Amino acid sequence: MKKMITLNVNDREYDLVIPVNRTLTQVLRENLKLTGTKQGCGVGDCGSCTILMDGRPVNSCLVLAAEAEGHKIETIEGLSEEGQLHPLQQAFVEHGSIQCGFCSPGMILSAKALLDKNPSPGETEIREAISGNLCRCTGYQKIVDAIQSVAKKV
Ligand code: FES
Ligand code: FES
Repeated sequence: MKKMITLNVNDREYDLVIPVNRTLTQVLRENLKLTGTKQGCGVGDCGSCTILMDGRPVNSCLVLAAEAEGHKIETIEGLSEEGQLHPLQQAFVEHGSIQCGFCSPGMILSAKALLDKNPSPGETEIREAISGNLCRCTGYQKIVDAIQSVAKKV
């Protein structure tokens, strides 16, 4: 069964006709070609599919696209402005926080949600905020350092 929906993604409205069982990850990646959102486990364990829904980090693999209607969705593609990286993206590059990069979009969005709420978090709060985002490469310290560096600038 298909459904017509309108999604607000990165401040743009998209009218779509999609199967009702399609997840938000699938629609972002396959219908909207916003492939920055990664599909890892597909069952809510890894956080690679994290997007912001009304400012809160959400595993988009666990949300049906139809359920996202009426909410403000933000993906990693929405962060840079006029070709300029968001300070968190820049900090991840400068601190060597990106290796394979699979976790990075979700990590950065979880960090953004934290900093939007609390501009100067401590290390414990940072680690808590990214606790739903698994990274197999970096050992997390460089990610925490990158987020802390942005928090200090703010
Ligand atoms: S792909 Fe969504 S949590 Fe792993
Ligand atoms: S950089 Fe590879 S999973 Fe995090």
